[in-house]
Amino acid sequence: MDKYVIHGGKPLKGEVTISGAKNAALAIIAASILAEDRCVIENVPDISDVNIMFQILQMMGAPVRMLSPGTVEIDTTNIMLPVVPYELARQMRASYYFLGALLGRCSHASVSMPGGCDFGLRPIDQHIKAFEAMEAVASIDHGMINVSAEQLLGAHIYFDVVTVGATINAMLAAVKAKGLTILENAAKEPHIVDLANFLNSMGADIRGAGTDVIKIHGVEEMHGADYSIIPDQIEAGTFMVAAAATHGEVLIKNVIPKHLESIAEKLLRVGASVTEYDDSVLVVGSPTLQRVNVKTLPHPGFPTDMQPQITTLLTQAEGTSIVTEGIWPNRFRYVDELRRMGAKIQVDGVVAVVEGPIELTGAPVKATDLRAGAAMLIAACCAKGATEIEDIYHIERGYENIVEKFVSLGADIRKVTDSEVSAPVLSQAL
Ligand code: EPZ
Repeated sequence: MDKYVIHGGKPLKGEVTISGAKNAALAIIAASILAEDRCVIENVPDISDVNIMFQILQMMGAPVRMLSPGTVEIDTTNIMLPVVPYELARQMRASYYFLGALLGRCSHASVSMPGGCDFGLRPIDQHIKAFEAMEAVASIDHGMINVSAEQLLGAHIYFDVVTVGATINAMLAAVKAKGLTILENAAKEPHIVDLANFLNSMGADIRGAGTDVIKIHGVEEMHGADYSIIPDQIEAGTFMVAAAATHGEVLIKNVIPKHLESIAEKLLRVGASVTEYDDSVLVVGSPTLQRVNVKTLPHPGFPTDMQPQITTLLTQAEGTSIVTEGIWPNRFRYVDELRRMGAKIQVDGVVAVVEGPIELTGAPVKATDLRAGAAMLIAACCAKGATEIEDIYHIERGYENIVEKFVSLGADIRKVTDSEVSAPVLSQAL
């Protein structure tokens, strides 16, 4: 099993350039099938979730061609098979975006129940609610979600919870529905706005993305488009937190500072300095960090996808911090791994109480999901001694060239593949 081995205790210093946003790219790739045409998409991150989406497109009959690093051409002229098979869909969550996109393209779709990070129940009732409101018929049998519609009709949909996925799926189905669709209590994340901008560049008529009311006038036809994906808000936040946690100094380039405001505010409160430029932010960690309370909320609140990372930083802060997970019922599984490194964190349901500062020590740990894996990387960079992170496939689902980026900031990290691992790596490293 491939591992990362990190020798920690050194501040991260230097510059890092952020890749395209995973959660925008996944939605935009699915959206490309709404036109029988070619799209050229730039700033696509080379990560396993994106590559699985490309495999799904190719299985459907849509060739995907890499024109240059990060730039792909997708030709969706001929989609023969509106089905997403289990063996691909189960590896990630965003495969279910093909439900809305295929409904919009050919009025029926079958997609296996999705996989994705395991932090408790991840229902899809709001997706089904939106499809049924647009007169589609949805059923789940043999692990497949099946949706079909004679004619999708615009509808007024009020989401019971703020949901990124259902907002995206409803947009994908609505752009070619007959009439006006209004989404109320819609998600406002940056990747929702990016998807709306991409769809509008294909000829859709979407207004209000980024607010909690999105209006979509259905159009007859859509066409291909050239588009560049926004930088990844969560990758940028991950490096901002890593810089502060290791008392380092990092210039994070290719960002949209507006997307990082809630993260910057917390880092300022813990005592780091954050300087914003047009498309970069400079984070300088202070010798001592102060405790702070965090509650994760839908955008523009503090992102849930930054919760493991900020919790790790707070193990280095003076005093007791309280982290409340406002989105997912069980997103503290990684705390057991941090405890193996000496962290003093009590978890009770959706609340974690973090004592600090604690000198973390290197240990063998696992990445329990994508952002938990990022937290392990930050913890390992803070820790004294060697840390070995297993199950790194979680991390490589969502972070492009993560080892190279940390190495460029002075981290002592290397990837050990199965073939190299003969004796336990830590014994060699200690
Ligand atoms: C997206 O997941 C992201 N994934 C997640 O990021 C992120 O944590 C999440 O949004 C919240 O921002 C992708 O974009 C691929 P939701 P999604 O629907 O769409 C409840 C990462 O690290 N809900 O916004 O699955 C749900 O239980 C990943 O990049 C329903 O009740 O999240 C949760 O409590 C991890 N019914 C809340 O809404 C539904 O039908 C938010 O879920 C749908 C959701």
